[in-house]
Amino acid sequence: MDYTVRTRVARILIDDAVPLGTEVTVLGWVRTIRVSKQVAFIEVNDGSCRGNIQGVIGEPNAHPVLSDIATGAAVRLKGELVESQGKGQKYEIAVAEVTLVGAADESFPLQKKRHSFEFLREIAHLRPRTNTFGAVNRIRSRMAYAIHTYYQERGFYYIHTPIISTSDCEGAGNLFRVTTQDLTNVARTDDGGIDWDKDFFAAEAYLTVSGQLEGELLATALGDIYTFGPTFRAENSNTSRHASEFWMIEPEMAWAELEDNMDLAEDFLKYLFRYALEKCPDEMEFFGTWVDKEVRQTLEAVIDSQFERLPYTEAISILEKSGETFEFPVKWGLDMQSEHERYLTEKVFQKPVIVFDYPEEIKAFYMRVNDDGKTVRAMDVLVPKVGEIIGGSQREERLDVLTDRMKHHGITDFETYGWYLDIRKYGSVPHSGFGLGFERALMYITGMANIRDVIPFPRVPRWAKF
Ligand code: 4AD
Ligand code: MG
Repeated sequence: MDYTVRTRVARILIDDAVPLGTEVTVLGWVRTIRVSKQVAFIEVNDGSCRGNIQGVIGEPNAHPVLSDIATGAAVRLKGELVESQGKGQKYEIAVAEVTLVGAADESFPLQKKRHSFEFLREIAHLRPRTNTFGAVNRIRSRMAYAIHTYYQERGFYYIHTPIISTSDCEGAGNLFRVTTQDLTNVARTDDGGIDWDKDFFAAEAYLTVSGQLEGELLATALGDIYTFGPTFRAENSNTSRHASEFWMIEPEMAWAELEDNMDLAEDFLKYLFRYALEKCPDEMEFFGTWVDKEVRQTLEAVIDSQFERLPYTEAISILEKSGETFEFPVKWGLDMQSEHERYLTEKVFQKPVIVFDYPEEIKAFYMRVNDDGKTVRAMDVLVPKVGEIIGGSQREERLDVLTDRMKHHGITDFETYGWYLDIRKYGSVPHSGFGLGFERALMYITGMANIRDVIPFPRVPRWAKF
């Protein structure tokens, strides 16, 4: 069969670019089929947009194949594009030829009723064929494009940082190990430890938690760079906002201090939200109707707001004076929990909040130490509903301060990190960057409440199927 002649349904329904009377060929999957003696209706979705196109067959008896076509089947419809007689659609196809390309039987799980997101996660191989996950996957693609456009238009270079790494950027120890050792017969050193020298890389290796450290190396050569790639964390936290594999966008700028970093983070988020509203109206309309009625307002509120910039010390004092009972304690020096972050952004300021200058003890080793010696130039961007969406900092560019701080954080292996220190030794410059969790951004844009539903095949504790 010739599949080269094909009209995408989006050309008809979204672009409105196919004139009435045109002979069209649509290739897609059957959403519903109704056959009576006089007429048959087949609704087909081809994935190019949310809308289905309806094929109308005037003489069902002349098309015996109809009795083999059921929901889920792949078909080809050929006919004239005509104005629809029915309600709710502008166009339909007066079908002259219908071909069954791939049959589906009644065991196809996506029959017309609505399914819970929990159920759909179990059949993640088929859920892209639903309206919701069609929309999620299309907007995910569009937003990836938006991210590249944003940075490319601003002179940032796209850098591919390694996925296999021998360093722990965040120092949190949530690492997935990469090894080719025989786990039933691991090579041992004389003192009984594991002999990593015998392993594939002759070193302990992991899946990266962040491309930042390598990103810094490139930024201090090319100026402005960004990464956009998968990152991995073996956090055993089964929440709606944590995935074990997620995609992160990490811009890194040489010659930039924390304020420049905040400016970029604010501008970037607003750009993405505006992009979704302006360039993805079909999907956004769907999310606003079926997922979260307030999603458009939520995004518009962020676009119109000026982000609050709040030192950590002030944030703690606001929380202490709030009179609110929190599950986790609030005290200077402790990390803020999601409930505290959400209280600040949702209740106190009702807009995004950038908390900065965190206590040195609770933040990663690479952040620039303030003159007070107690805080570092860290920043977290908190947004209503999701909480932390961005984490970043100005990096410590002073060699002596950095080595002191690394020792303080228990990193004494200066051989492993020698390359990281070298850029402080040769032409060191102030530099800053941050990481935006792509899925957190998508949750915000779509209104989807669970991170498992904004990535095609989520990886979370005890789940790596498909
Ligand atoms: O705050 P994080 O850990 O920062 C870093 O990794 C820095 N190295 C980034 C940088 O400065 N270049 O992570 C950054 C963001 C978080 O704000 C959050 O949006 C997302 O990554 N994130 C996760 N998203 C999904 N699942 C997880 N388990 C996540 N952990 C972090
Ligand atoms: Mg963080």
